[in-house]
Amino acid sequence: MTDSNHRHSEYPIDPLFLNRWAPRAFDGQPMPKADFLTILDAAHWAPSSGNGQPWRFVYALRGTDGFDDAVGLLMDGNQVWAGNASALVFVISHAKRKSRDGTLVDNATHAFDSGAAWMAAALQAKLMGYETHGMAGIHKDRIAEHYGIPADYAVNMAFVVGKYGHKETLPKPLREREVQSTRKALAEVAFEGSFTAD
Ligand SMILES: Cc1cc2nc3c(=O)[nH]c(=O)nc-3n(C[C@H](O)[C@H](O)[C@H](O)COP(=O)(O)O)c2cc1C
Repeated sequence: MTDSNHRHSEYPIDPLFLNRWAPRAFDGQPMPKADFLTILDAAHWAPSSGNGQPWRFVYALRGTDGFDDAVGLLMDGNQVWAGNASALVFVISHAKRKSRDGTLVDNATHAFDSGAAWMAAALQAKLMGYETHGMAGIHKDRIAEHYGIPADYAVNMAFVVGKYGHKETLPKPLREREVQSTRKALAEVAFEGSFTAD
């Protein structure tokens, strides 16, 4: 087992997986663009079906004109804390792929592949001393309109990147939620040769 970040695994996993978590208390500082692009570079090395690489990232860095607009595209509950991060990324994916005959067909794995990319970003960020926090609480239609994203692309989620700040800066209800989450027992989600529904 591994013990790290107030979390305990059942088997000896690398501490990186326990150390990555989703805090809300960011320090409100800008981050070097090269650090940020390093994180996205890792993301785009994720595996994808047929190496289709359906992920697209639209981002805004703190201290640039687009940052406040981007934060405004999050749902209110996320804006409260996410505005203190150093970068905000919208994870978009191409829901269509080119078939062998060149026609556009549905890409059944676009969101799944993009999830792998987001996780690669989260782990690269953690390795560099940054925290990340994913968000489904976003205004997808407004995001598509704001950035001119065509209908065959899906807006999947957003995530922020930044350095950890001080828990005390959060409003009280969020301060109380600023704790590392745990996980179901492995046996509740991993089955040898059979399936057990919840
Ligand atoms: C796709 C996705 C969407 C999420 N949406 C939100 C969100 O809108 N707001 C929020 O505060 N946290 C959000 N989270 C964070 C999760 O609640 C968090 O990752 C989960 O509780 C596990 O905790 P951990 O990341 O600290 O291990 C989201 C995470 C993911 C991966």
